[in-house]
Amino acid sequence: MKDLSLGETMIRTGLREVDGVPVTEPIASIWDQVWKFKAKPDDVLIATYAKAGTTWTQEIVDMIQQNGDTEKCKRETTYKRHPFLECMGPREQKDINLFCSNTQLAEAMPSPRTIKTHLPAQLLPPSFWEQNCKIIYVARNAKDNLVSYYHFHRMNKGLPDPGTWEEFVEKFMTGKVLWGSWYDHVKGWWKAKDKHRILYLFYEDMKENPKREIQKIAKFLEKDLSDEVLNKIVHSTSFEVMKENPMANYTKDFEGIMDHSISPFMRKGTVADWKNHFTVAQNEKFDEDYKKKMSDTSLVFRMEL
Ligand code: A3P
Repeated sequence: MKDLSLGETMIRTGLREVDGVPVTEPIASIWDQVWKFKAKPDDVLIATYAKAGTTWTQEIVDMIQQNGDTEKCKRETTYKRHPFLECMGPREQKDINLFCSNTQLAEAMPSPRTIKTHLPAQLLPPSFWEQNCKIIYVARNAKDNLVSYYHFHRMNKGLPDPGTWEEFVEKFMTGKVLWGSWYDHVKGWWKAKDKHRILYLFYEDMKENPKREIQKIAKFLEKDLSDEVLNKIVHSTSFEVMKENPMANYTKDFEGIMDHSISPFMRKGTVADWKNHFTVAQNEKFDEDYKKKMSDTSLVFRMEL
């Protein structure tokens, strides 16, 4: 009999709410542990709504911290270099390294640590605020974020089944997706930046002028980089180079769970791919709903460059 790969034996997770925000069953099961996580003052947190450019930002931050040393950045995969705070796989697979709770992974890591999260601001463990940690938040326009999220659900068996494209658009608009409402997420963190040390960045700005945005991140991290190092970081964190980098393209972790033949993790890396997905009617409906949901914020996104 053929050995079944992990992906073939996996049943896709359902969602459970934590304070009204849908998360996977495994995350809900360890929520107490996540909430009680003890951040340290020199932790750097990279926070995003999923698919907003987290991995890209992680690579930039690591390159800055390693002074542009690409070999040092290849010491481990993205997933292992930066603990994914609330990540937790199916309980029955706890013995597999990948699925142990990432809070434990973070605890075992020497400082200074860089940690990743997709939690909305109101669900961030309070110790991050108490310790005044530096936080980099990256936001991406709703339509491209949605498209990327849809394809990610298709290829990642660790997430709920996305259903059809039409169904997924509806779920996204109503916030009935993993990590909840995109609208609340970007607005919540936008508000939080008035009170906390948060560098709020946009995927579209990073695409438009990566060097300028990398400089912003370096300044925020109080790192002085030469122009030569800066140019090196721009190059090695470009979509094309990262797509070919096994330590940054997720081909080494989540084997049997992420199926890159369905849709690669490094999919397109562009702005305005939504135009290839939305029908005219869908777009009109989305825009109308968007206007209502975003009427109470000063936050403005660019849907194209
Ligand atoms: P697409 O699916 O639109 O291609 P996250 O890391 O938050 O999961 O986000 C993944 C998205 O960021 C994917 O978007 C991926 O291609 C894109 N991405 C990853 N690295 C990138 C880079 N260096 N430049 C531009 N986009 C990048």
